[in-house]
Amino acid sequence: AKIRKYKWELKYEYKSPDCFKKLVITINGRTPGPTVVAEQGDTIIVELKNSLWTENTAIHWHGIRQIGTPWFDGTEGVTQCPILPGETFVYRFVVDRPGTYLYHAHYGMQREAGLYGSIRVSLPAGVSEPFAYDEDRSIILMDWYHKSAYEQAAGLASIPFQWVGEPESILINGKGKFNCSSVATPSLNLSLVCDVSNPECTPYALTVIPGKTYRLRISSLTALSALSFKLEGHNMTVVEADGHYVEPFVVQNLFIYSGETYSVLIKTDQDPSRNYWATTTVVSRRPLTPPGLAILNYYPNHPRRYPPTIPPPGPVWNNVSLRVNQSLAIKARKGFITPPPQTTDRMIVLLNTQNLFNGFHRWSVNNVSFNLPHTPYLIALKQNLLHAFDQTPPPDGYDFKNYNISIVQPNPNATTSNGIYRLDFNSTVDIILQNANTMNESNSETHPWHLHGHDFWVLGHGTGKFDIYNDPKKFNLVDPIMKNTVPLHTYGWTALRFRADNPGVWAFHCHIESHFFMGKRIRESYPPSISTQSDSQEQGLKVGVAIEFKNVGVE
Ligand code: C2O
Repeated sequence: AKIRKYKWELKYEYKSPDCFKKLVITINGRTPGPTVVAEQGDTIIVELKNSLWTENTAIHWHGIRQIGTPWFDGTEGVTQCPILPGETFVYRFVVDRPGTYLYHAHYGMQREAGLYGSIRVSLPAGVSEPFAYDEDRSIILMDWYHKSAYEQAAGLASIPFQWVGEPESILINGKGKFNCSSVATPSLNLSLVCDVSNPECTPYALTVIPGKTYRLRISSLTALSALSFKLEGHNMTVVEADGHYVEPFVVQNLFIYSGETYSVLIKTDQDPSRNYWATTTVVSRRPLTPPGLAILNYYPNHPRRYPPTIPPPGPVWNNVSLRVNQSLAIKARKGFITPPPQTTDRMIVLLNTQNLFNGFHRWSVNNVSFNLPHTPYLIALKQNLLHAFDQTPPPDGYDFKNYNISIVQPNPNATTSNGIYRLDFNSTVDIILQNANTMNESNSETHPWHLHGHDFWVLGHGTGKFDIYNDPKKFNLVDPIMKNTVPLHTYGWTALRFRADNPGVWAFHCHIESHFFMGKRIRESYPPSISTQSDSQEQGLKVGVAIEFKNVGVE
């Protein structure tokens, strides 16, 4: 195993990823940042210099479990203090499994300012994957706002609440195309602000050679949007999800939620005399954002040559069952199944709701909206600073009997806390994510939940209210996929199981930036996400869950 050293400097710079010029956070001058490429077992060392003059920062290595190194998880307020302007912090951790992972800011809403990138871990030489391909390519998807994260955060935390709205564009490998002529407030010199001929926003071209098989690693770190990814004229065979092998299945549209990674195989077996569209469309929310476009370039056609066709439309945005069906289709690959424990030691049900707290819009879990403490949990626990956060854990469930998940709640008020769930070391824990109606009539949102420090088995997805007596009988205990991020579909539930075998304090939260921000995270162990939304308002829900393991000292 090797040691791989990176020196990164964070800066604010003007960039035009979708032709519209704005300040973005760059790593060594780039957004998305450089891809971390490593082999299983390697040690990654990132010397991170914060040259954002007025902001703190922290970077989370999303999907890397940090076994034995919880303090390098990069979660500000949970596992570390923020890195101050001018300071350098050195992350050092081992990538212990092959697969496709991500990294991104875990401070404020900096991820959507451009601080994100991919991690690709290959198998050691001589070991091969259970599928064959000729070339390996990465595609990272992002949604993009023209307002700064500050303006958005201020609006979310205001009375009256100001929802961030839909993103202006979708970026594929950092490139999108905004229709500059649609800018509503003409500025004095618009061409300086928005210029469609700027080379920074030429569509990304994925160049392929006809007659080969490609592995595409597709990942999403969107601030808000659930997406569908499509390659015109090409089916995709899903083979990997969040670093685990999937029993192969074929899709024409790949649904992908913020924080997820997939590998698909494609065959470049279409008419080689032309190029094809790669399109990314918004699902689950009414798509006011135009599709993201890239070019699947068949060599030797020119990479800028537009395909002769109209970009194919994505799936209907509000067809939930298409999305649930994909979730249900993802199973562990035969021969690579890690069976889950057949029973659990503890079940925690997390009801995701949108609420009010003192008039502020917040997301909550079990009616508690998460706040981060001033002292990071990991430090507070190691130093035994019991006053640093609320010692009362958040509730393990909600009022199952009386709560009607299908309606707007008559009393939307919630409380806030920074308490966390404490889990016994090596115990098996089930988490049931329960969705519900938001504060708007007939509206429920999709929440991608991400757990730090662990992978979980996805035991099931269902519609309506989870029945604690009967639904566990339907769990898939045979070949469930393991993941670190999973969608909670509208008005439905998602059941997870994991083993609390990695001592530390870990966030568990909705990966939507504004939901996390609004719920703040807590060290609760979990969830919260809140998101709310509605086309005009949402905010705050962030729920964080941190998991702490009792009885185990962290070094
Ligand atoms: Cu990718 Cu806590 O996030």
